[in-house]
Amino acid sequence: MTTNASVPGCPVDESFDPLSAQFLADPYAVMAGLPADGAPIFFAPSIGYYVITRYADIEEVFRDPATYSAAAAQAPLVPLVPEAGQILLAGGHKPQPSMVSLDEPEHARLRKPAARAFSMKRVAAMIPAIEATAARLLDGVAGATEFDLVATLAFPLPANVVFSLMGVPGNDFAQLKRWCGYRAALGWGRPAPEDQVEIATGMAAYRGYLRGLVDIKVRAPGDDLTTDLIAIHDEAPERLTLDEISSILFSLSFAGHETTTGLIGNAVRRLLEDPARWAEVVSQPELIPAAVEESLRYDPSVPAWRRVTTRPATLAGVDLPQGARLFLWLAAAGRDAAAFAEPDRFDLHRPEADRHLAFGKGLHFCLGANLGKLEAQIAIAELARRYPRLGLAPDQELTFHPNISFRGPQVLNVRTQ
Ligand code: HEM
Repeated sequence: MTTNASVPGCPVDESFDPLSAQFLADPYAVMAGLPADGAPIFFAPSIGYYVITRYADIEEVFRDPATYSAAAAQAPLVPLVPEAGQILLAGGHKPQPSMVSLDEPEHARLRKPAARAFSMKRVAAMIPAIEATAARLLDGVAGATEFDLVATLAFPLPANVVFSLMGVPGNDFAQLKRWCGYRAALGWGRPAPEDQVEIATGMAAYRGYLRGLVDIKVRAPGDDLTTDLIAIHDEAPERLTLDEISSILFSLSFAGHETTTGLIGNAVRRLLEDPARWAEVVSQPELIPAAVEESLRYDPSVPAWRRVTTRPATLAGVDLPQGARLFLWLAAAGRDAAAFAEPDRFDLHRPEADRHLAFGKGLHFCLGANLGKLEAQIAIAELARRYPRLGLAPDQELTFHPNISFRGPQVLNVRTQ
């Protein structure tokens, strides 16, 4: 059961809508406009969620999965038309579609083998390929004085990396990327009824494709993570079924690129906003890992994540009923003065930047955090090496995909001199 109305004692903010044009363009302006003392928790009728803004409260939620279930993590924000719902179910897309919104013990069944196959060894082995891909993509704009960083690098690099990791043939990358766009709209946007059937049809095809990929890898193993998962299945088929492998691929294929495209776009934007910042990174590339952490704190590519209460709970001084849906505003946690000194200042030398909650915390802590950070570091290093005088092209208005959880500029025009 979920509640759509606020409880007594909890402020209500009628104007807060994370899908409004104003919020999408500049959520930090909305954040700055909230009452300083009265906003650790408030109810947002626009989405039917309690918004949680403080670092300590969000951390408390992540650390208590028995009280705060992950089941809301990818729930549609709007009711689906019956036809779309039927297409999704028939296509194997259940109400809890993958590990990130499953609770124990179902979550561990998928997480454990995924973590085993997603080893540091496999991630480290990818470094030369990531570097080569970043270089090849930037070679494509060699000589240009201006280019779109997102189309050139931030978008194709993570897609290439994660799809290659899974063993997807190169010809299918573009199709898979399109399906993932549908997924962002379905789970985190507000798709209009007339678009939902098309989205649901795409999702069913996406699921079918991944299940087919598992069958192909059973017949023809490769040097990829899907094949590693099948080896785990072969050890004990009842512990990891082929359908579950396909569900893990469903998690990785999406979580592995939208998030990282956003991270690269946000990080480069923030580094270029102040030419002195970029100059510092160019002259001291050893600062790049810190720059990536600070971007994740200051402007995270997953700015919000969700939970739902399994029982009555007191959070930020408010007594919540069972079924209360929580919008954990990770971007606000990064700007919490109780957690970070001078939180609105982007600081390449901030010692505690990596305490951010941009990858969540606890049982569901992002499986790809190291890979995502590595990709961003390599992208920035390659840009810094090639373009010491890189800058933002003037007069551009940044736009963002209309969803609540995946954020990065859709286009970022940069000048090479
Ligand atoms: C670089 C930017 C990334 C960000 C900001 C990010 C953020 C997140 C967040 C907020 C969660 C939910 C954590 C929670 O509920 O406690 C998550 C989970 C997850 N992420 Fe990431 N992620 C990124 C990159 C990646 C990459 C590159 C991959 C894989 C290739 C990945 C795979 C996953 C998976 C599988 C989960 C679900 C884990 C579980 O439920 O146990 N992520 N991520």
